[in-house]
Amino acid sequence: MRHGSNLGGLLARQRMDAGWSQEELADRSGVSVRTVRNIETGAVQSPRHSSLSLVVAAFQAAGLFEAEYVLRDFTDRNGMESSVALSGRSVGVSTSNGAPTGDDHDRLVGRKNDISRMCDSLHRNRWITLVGPGGVGKTKLAFAVADRLRSQFTGGVSVVHLGETSVDHDETAIWHTVCEALLTGGSPGDSSEVKRRLVVIDNIEHLQTPAVRVCQRLLAEFPDVWILITSRHAVAAAGVKTVEVRPLSAVDAERLFLHRALAACPDLDLTDRGSAVTEICRKLDGLPFALELAALRLRSLSIDTLLEAPVRQIVAQPSVAGLPHQRTLVESVTWSYGMLGEEQRRLLHWLTGFLEDFTIKDLLGHPDRKAVADDFPQLFDIVSDLVDRSMLQVYRGAEYRYSMLGSIRKVIGILQ
Ligand SMILES: Nc1ncnc2c1ncn2[C@@H]1O[C@H](COP(=O)(O)OP(=O)(O)OP(=O)(O)O)[C@@H](O)[C@H]1O
Ligand SMILES: [Mg+2]
Repeated sequence: MRHGSNLGGLLARQRMDAGWSQEELADRSGVSVRTVRNIETGAVQSPRHSSLSLVVAAFQAAGLFEAEYVLRDFTDRNGMESSVALSGRSVGVSTSNGAPTGDDHDRLVGRKNDISRMCDSLHRNRWITLVGPGGVGKTKLAFAVADRLRSQFTGGVSVVHLGETSVDHDETAIWHTVCEALLTGGSPGDSSEVKRRLVVIDNIEHLQTPAVRVCQRLLAEFPDVWILITSRHAVAAAGVKTVEVRPLSAVDAERLFLHRALAACPDLDLTDRGSAVTEICRKLDGLPFALELAALRLRSLSIDTLLEAPVRQIVAQPSVAGLPHQRTLVESVTWSYGMLGEEQRRLLHWLTGFLEDFTIKDLLGHPDRKAVADDFPQLFDIVSDLVDRSMLQVYRGAEYRYSMLGSIRKVIGILQ
């Protein structure tokens, strides 16, 4: 993805990459050729937001989401309003439980590649699952994508939160919850009432089998419905495209940490503490939830104290928002841990001894080799399951490498 240092250069580059002349962009967007020219030459450096919105929307309408995203990101960062939503168009969001969706007011940090990849995928696939460990940002990303694509979904975006839904819920109960969100006031099964709509189903890991059946039924019965689900557990079903959500890059982790630190303590000056910030973010593996909790800690503990503190103490302070299992990192990891079988738990505890990443060969060549083979005769199955449940991260080179996020490892270390 290429960036420019000024709006004019950036716009000209995106326009040329799209293969459009200035006249064509003017036609597509509805602004005058003179406006396009003035922005590109820099004669107008702060265009009216209505013009900017139209220009950005032209890229969006052509399905050029990366260009749209680059322009919106630039204008957002420079305090210029370019978003269609900000210019007052209806988002058409409904929720199953009244929770707001479009007002996820904190700006998304990073994730540009994920967003453009997902926007493209949603053109080709009607069912996408965002998979990753607790607190990595699946829900945040899902809502950002839904927000980005809302104009494509004329029937709007429906959100169903299943995080608090008890594991006893069967397929019928989930189906009714989803249909309630889908057809506000309508009845399940009446597909004629549904226009092209995106259904975001948040947190299905504990309801895997019935939730997957509901998704399959939705796709079969409602040809105009697209599904975006978030889960800590990968979904194995025909037709689903899986997108793995990884922790933030080092740069984005620092941006998020600093943003949250400044929100919690506006007077704190970390300008000369770049390397300490880098170190904290590394220590927390760039996991957004852990970064947010650590930033809250800065209200009471200095960054040097945090640097020396054990991870579990840095992140022990509860977040005020979220479901019960999303208030502290310990609760978040414990929730995933509670869904594991006995064998998976035992291997996970054993793997906490690996501080670095490892391969299957490393496991089989371990000095305790016989113990590993005897103790875990189904080793491959268990490793696969831990990967599917996002307890292990996998890097797929010629030889696969596995690792446990340090923050997860520290919590597993204190669980029995
Ligand atoms: N890219 C991001 N920019 C800004 N904030 C983020 C980003 N990613 C995550 N966050 C914040 O980090 C926290 C955890 O993110 P989120 O709730 O999306 O995680 P999750 O993967 O859905 O976790 P869970 O599995 O518990 O549902 C939230 O407060 C969220 O707002
Ligand atoms: Mg979530």
